[in-house]
Amino acid sequence: TRKLRISEALLGSELGANVKVQGWVRSVRPQKTNLFFHVNDGSCLQSLQIVAGSDLDEPLLTFGSAVEVTGILKKSPHQKQPVELEAEQIHIIGECNPVDFPFKIKERHSLEYIRQFPHLRCRTNAFSSLLRIRSEATTAIHSYFKKNGFVQIHTPIITSNDCEGAGELFQVEVSIYRYYDENENFFSVPAFLSVSGQLHLEVMSGAFSGVYTFGPTFRAENSQSRRHLAEFYMVEAEVSFTQSIEDLTKVMEDMFRSSTEHVLAHCAEDVNLFHKHVTPGHRDMVDAMLKRRFPVITYSEAVDILNRSSQEFAFPTDWGCDLQTEHEKYLVKHCGNIPVFVTDYPYDLKPFYARDNQDSPEHTAAAVDLLVPGVGELCGGSLREERLDLLRARLEEAGLEDTYSWYLDLRRFGSVPHGGFGLGFERYLQCILGVDNIKDVIPFPRFSHSCLL
Ligand code: 4AD
Ligand code: MG
Repeated sequence: TRKLRISEALLGSELGANVKVQGWVRSVRPQKTNLFFHVNDGSCLQSLQIVAGSDLDEPLLTFGSAVEVTGILKKSPHQKQPVELEAEQIHIIGECNPVDFPFKIKERHSLEYIRQFPHLRCRTNAFSSLLRIRSEATTAIHSYFKKNGFVQIHTPIITSNDCEGAGELFQVEVSIYRYYDENENFFSVPAFLSVSGQLHLEVMSGAFSGVYTFGPTFRAENSQSRRHLAEFYMVEAEVSFTQSIEDLTKVMEDMFRSSTEHVLAHCAEDVNLFHKHVTPGHRDMVDAMLKRRFPVITYSEAVDILNRSSQEFAFPTDWGCDLQTEHEKYLVKHCGNIPVFVTDYPYDLKPFYARDNQDSPEHTAAAVDLLVPGVGELCGGSLREERLDLLRARLEEAGLEDTYSWYLDLRRFGSVPHGGFGLGFERYLQCILGVDNIKDVIPFPRFSHSCLL
C-alpha cells in the first residue's frame, strides 16, 4: 500500500492501485447503498471522494475529523472528480465534535467570521487556498530575483537602526534572563525589531550589483486600518549603478507581472475560489492590471489631479502634504484602475537616504511609490543619496552623523549611484486576490491590541 497525498491521488495515474490517504473530512453523504465522504489534506483545494459500504456505521465520521483510509483508486462515474477511493479500511485518527466545531458542513463562512478562529481557520477552503497562494507567491518572487541575477541577503531582524526614522520601532528588551543585570542593556545599545532591511541591503550594494531580501518587518503602527499590520513581510531590492527611477520602476513592474502570472498559472483553482466566490468580479481587475504598462506621474501632477477633482477629501492636498489612502485610491481610479507610479516627492517628506533632485524647481527627492487598486501604496522606493557631502550635510542637520558614520563610510569607499524599493507582501496578496482586510492574507496577524496565539 502506497501513501499518497490527495493531489497525487487526484491525478488519476494510479488507477487500480491500493493506496493510503490521510486527511480531514470535508463532507459526509450517506446514501442507500453507499456512504460517500470527502477527505482533504491541504495539498490542493479539491477533496478526494471516498466510497464506503453503507454497512459502515460510523457516527464518528464527522466534518472536521481526521481519518486514514486505505483502498483502491477507481475511475469515478462522476464528471466533477476524475477518481474516487473505494475504501477497504477506515481509521478515525482524531474525532471532531460537530456541535462545538465553529465551522459547519456545507456553509460558506465569511473571511471575517473565520478570522475569529486563528487556530482553526486553516481548516476552511478559503483560508487553505490563501495559504497555498501565499506559499506559491513567495516562490514566484524568489524565482523572479534568481532569474534576474539578484543575490538574496538575510538581513537581520534585530537591529540598532531606524531606517525610516518614523519612530514606529518596537524596542527589544531582555526581561527575564538568569544572569542578567537589570541595569545592563543586553546589546549595550538600544536594539529594535527591523522596520526595513534597506540599510543592510545598501551595505551589500557596495559589493553586489543586485541584492534582495524577503522577510518579516515590524512597525508599531497604532492603526486599526485594513492595510496595516505590526508584523508584515516585505520584499526589498537594491540595484547598484543606477541613476534613474525608470530602472527601479522596471524591476517593480516586472516583478509584479511575473509573480502574478506565475500565481495565476500555478494556483488557478485556489485563485479561482477567491475570484469566483470570495471577491467576485476581481479577476477582470487583475487581467486589466496585467494588460497595460503602469503609467508614471510625478507627485506634482498627482497634486494637480487631486485639486482638479470634484471629490471632497478629508486630508489636505496642498503641495508638500503626504498622500493619504483616500488620495492614493483616487489617483488609481483616475488612471483607469491599474497600478500607477508616483515619482519625485517633496524632499522634506522623505527619509535621510533619499536622493536630492537638486535641479528641480520645487525641492523634490528621487523617490517613487507604486499605488494599486483597492489597496493604495504597495511599494515605496527611491534612489539613494550616494554623494558624500550631501548625505553628510543632511545627517548633520538631523544630528545623526555619529549614528550613521558607517553609512557615510559606504559613500567613502567606492560609492556608486544606487536605489531600491520595498513591496508589502500582504498588500500584494490583497491586490491580486481582492481581499479587503490585510488580516485575512497572513497566517497569524499581529496588530495593536492583538497578538493571539
Ligand atoms: O514605504 P515603506 O515604509 O518603505 C521602506 O521601508 C523602504 N525602506 C523600503 C526600501 O526602499 N527598501 O514600506 C514599504 C512597503 C509599503 O509600500 C507598504 O506596502 C508596506 O511596505 N508596509 C506595510 N504593510 C503592512 N503593514 C504595515 N504597517 C506596513 N508599512 C509598510
Ligand atoms: Mg512608504
